[in-house]
Amino acid sequence: MNEQPYRLGMIGLGTVGSGVLELLHRRESTLVRRLGRAIEVKKIAVRDTSRSRPYLSGFGEISDLLTDNPDEILEDPEIDLLVEVAGGVDEPRKWILKALENGKDVVTANKAVLAVHGKDIFQTALSQNQRVFYEASVAAAIPIIEMLQNGLIANGITSLSAILNGTCNFILTQMEEEGLDYETALKLAQEKGFAEADPTLDVSGGDAAHKLALLAGIITGSHVPIECIYSEGIQEITSSDFTFARDLGYAIKMVGTLKQHGTGAWEMRVHPTLVPENDLLAQARDEYNAVSLVGDAVGRMSVMGKGAGSLPTASSIVADVLRASRGEREGGNPHGLNVPELVPVGDVELPHYIRLEVKDNPGVLGRITSFFGMHNISIRSINQPEAQMGHTVPVIIITHTCKDKILTDGLEELKKAGLVEQGFTHIRIQE
Ligand SMILES: NC(=O)c1ccc[n+]([C@@H]2O[C@H](COP(=O)([O-])OP(=O)(O)OC[C@H]3O[C@@H](n4cnc5c(N)ncnc54)[C@H](OP(=O)(O)O)[C@@H]3O)[C@@H](O)[C@H]2O)c1
Repeated sequence: MNEQPYRLGMIGLGTVGSGVLELLHRRESTLVRRLGRAIEVKKIAVRDTSRSRPYLSGFGEISDLLTDNPDEILEDPEIDLLVEVAGGVDEPRKWILKALENGKDVVTANKAVLAVHGKDIFQTALSQNQRVFYEASVAAAIPIIEMLQNGLIANGITSLSAILNGTCNFILTQMEEEGLDYETALKLAQEKGFAEADPTLDVSGGDAAHKLALLAGIITGSHVPIECIYSEGIQEITSSDFTFARDLGYAIKMVGTLKQHGTGAWEMRVHPTLVPENDLLAQARDEYNAVSLVGDAVGRMSVMGKGAGSLPTASSIVADVLRASRGEREGGNPHGLNVPELVPVGDVELPHYIRLEVKDNPGVLGRITSFFGMHNISIRSINQPEAQMGHTVPVIIITHTCKDKILTDGLEELKKAGLVEQGFTHIRIQE
């Protein structure tokens, strides 16, 4: 037994930070047994040290640990590890770089800082011979990074599709199961703490793109700037789309996809997707996340778990703390410096779901099918569910596999041609 404890300093004591303290306390004897020495939380930086934090059972004298000055952690030579669970981009970048330069390893749950400043951070870690662990930053409770870095190391991963944003998944689940419209489902997500007051980053696909960029970096052994990921949000989907999708045997999910082509280039995209209802991704409800991947040795495999929340996220942080304290090398710098070759989204070939609103006048379906034919978009099925002469009605079209650019250019032309009454929904279909 090593007499010296392994000492960590934490920046942030909110939802995730309090979960980390709870689990370090709850699992203390197991962690000491596994590590051969105690893990000590030496300092915690917060914004407001005067706020009472009554929920921290097991840490009676918590106020003694608090500081509002992160430098007290970053400049303390006795602290081995920085656990960054504050959030944000600019300040965490500075804290993480300073910790690495001062000889500390780093554990973070912050996908935004890694997606935006990962190159800088991982290079500094490499040059300082320190490590950055970030399991909790992608799919919270699911140990997908550990799987990709270690458990599946013998595989080339050729494709991955994943639900990576709990806020979108909660909203889409409520729209599907309760028939709520987008605005009502978003409000419910905010009331239940599943969505921020400003939900833009989540519902626009930005947050899922950050996470997909981190997974893409590990899988391709490259640096994947966030701009490499094509993203679209969920704001245009209506509750009626769920009914039509269900009739066709699909669920609507916000899916991040990585797929390698025969040329070696990669599709990297995040957007609403029609997923066959028997697919694991379709089973992930509310704040759950799920990942399906194909490895060249293991074939297809899938995993599902909570993508947010205090203890589910802290579970991954504590695993990283243990890895760091054991001196494990993995997590140091899996990302290379090169940027992978990309397949532009316009060249991606998929079937598509399109819902148009049209005036139910004689010949309207014929005019629409001719229009698609003229634009080289082949229709697999067309359905007009609630025809009522002279009224606006939806028309649901499923296309055969078609290049994305041909489809999106065709839809723009359709809008200009005045064949549709209002906007339309366009959702790509997972094959
Ligand atoms: N919540 C989740 O389910 C979840 C899941 C996966 C990843 N994450 C990531 O985990 C991180 C933390 O999320 P959270 O939900 O725990 O956030 P949170 O509840 O808002 O807590 C943030 C904590 O950071 C402290 N803080 C903020 N700015 C600070 C500063 N400049 N100096 C010192 N302390 C500062 C706050 O201090 P006060 O307490 O004084 O306000 C608070 O304790 C984020 O990067 C987030 O993306 C969260």
